[in-house]
Amino acid sequence: MEWRFPKGFAWSCATSAYQVEGACDEKGQSVWDVFTHRPGNVIDGSNGDVACDSYHHLEEDVQLIAAIGVSHYRFSVAWSRVLPNGTINDVNEAGVRYYRQLCEKLVENNIEPVITLYHWDYPYELEKRGGWLHPDAIQWFCDYARLCFDKFGDLVKTWITFNEIWMCAWTGTVTTAGLSDQSADKASRERCARAIPYLVGHQMLLSHGRAYRIYENEFREKQKGQVGITMSAKWREPASDSPDDIRAAQDGLCWQLDWIAHPIFSTCGGYPKRMRDRLNDLSINEQRANKDSILPEFTDEECNVVRGSADFMGLNYYISYKTRHLTEEEKNSEELGWLFRDADYCDTVDPSWEKISGEKSWLHNTPWTLPKILCYIRNKYNNPKVLITENGCADHPEEVVLEDNARIKYCEDHLKALHKAITKDGCNVLGYTLWSLLDNFEWTNGYTMKFGMYHVDFNDPDLRRTPKKSVSWYADVIRNNGL
Ligand code: NOJ
Repeated sequence: MEWRFPKGFAWSCATSAYQVEGACDEKGQSVWDVFTHRPGNVIDGSNGDVACDSYHHLEEDVQLIAAIGVSHYRFSVAWSRVLPNGTINDVNEAGVRYYRQLCEKLVENNIEPVITLYHWDYPYELEKRGGWLHPDAIQWFCDYARLCFDKFGDLVKTWITFNEIWMCAWTGTVTTAGLSDQSADKASRERCARAIPYLVGHQMLLSHGRAYRIYENEFREKQKGQVGITMSAKWREPASDSPDDIRAAQDGLCWQLDWIAHPIFSTCGGYPKRMRDRLNDLSINEQRANKDSILPEFTDEECNVVRGSADFMGLNYYISYKTRHLTEEEKNSEELGWLFRDADYCDTVDPSWEKISGEKSWLHNTPWTLPKILCYIRNKYNNPKVLITENGCADHPEEVVLEDNARIKYCEDHLKALHKAITKDGCNVLGYTLWSLLDNFEWTNGYTMKFGMYHVDFNDPDLRRTPKKSVSWYADVIRNNGL
């Protein structure tokens, strides 16, 4: 059997700024520069100061990308590289030049740049002023977005405003909002910890919506590009047939995907009703007034700005979960984050699922759930255009470095599942992006998880890149437009 994709299907691979660029002295600090330098935060004590040094390997990296034959390459702009203090008052021309050159070289090689504006590396100068909770945060993002549209937009036809709001609004703020253990007022701290993710998510959604409108009003006519946003997307299977677990699995999807997708992609806009109702109920149960719900409200004007503010939905898809409801004890336990307690769900992994990338990793191979989430999106949001903006896995720690058979198998399995979703289920998927081009800095896992199609020798001063087997495998897939 053959799995051929529709004509014009986009084939891509991806990286993000902090994970590959290095050259930390040639830009303003981001929250990740600061966080990684605090002992104990990253598993192997490493940081992205140098990473793959992609900032100084521009020509070489474009050749590596071209050698794969991709039609698109997704990368992110480091906000603090173009705006060292985060605001428009100080533009770093060298940073702007770097991204322009990268775009130019890609275009010369017939590769379309796909730019993510925000891939978690928030400017530290803005963080010190309150970050996403500052009243001007939306304006700061809009100024930055406009600058990028203006400087790179003649070369870029596909923009992604945010990478995985769920991840940075939820896991990001709970650990980095400065809620230190020394806080004297622990009671307020708890309430903050509960409210901040929803507030940050709200600010990010508004930033996305307003940046989309800027593109629409000021740039689209001339540049003719499209603007989307990338979601964290993990499918949830109920852990059992019990109504409580079925409900929990639905809430898991709602709290992660629909929280962000519904305000943008639904016809009515605003937050999902089930989330709003549940948080209102909690307010009532806890003797707070309805209006005191922890979930912010959009004004009518804001709701309209955000609703319909995406030309496509980006999906980062890796794994799924078996989701169950919480026990009474868990609901009252401080071990579980507020979001899980508010939503009343807990994600687990089926021990029978094929584990990949080593025993300790969070990855497993459940490709059959990819069509499920795509159909969920198709049904719920009127079959929007979807771009798979990430899919891939890390090498098994004992795998012979260049023989990355596990990656090939994982991606093949997912491509077959994706093919089914497109051809049998009629999901409107425009393209597939393999994460990642290079082995790189995998956030708190440092350099211990290697997602690259190219191996990077981090002990070599030149950071030599060597193709793994997946490079020629992926090149074949692209040449054949499928398997
Ligand atoms: C999603 C993130 O966008 C990316 O930065 C990360 O490296 C991959 N997942 C793998 O964990």
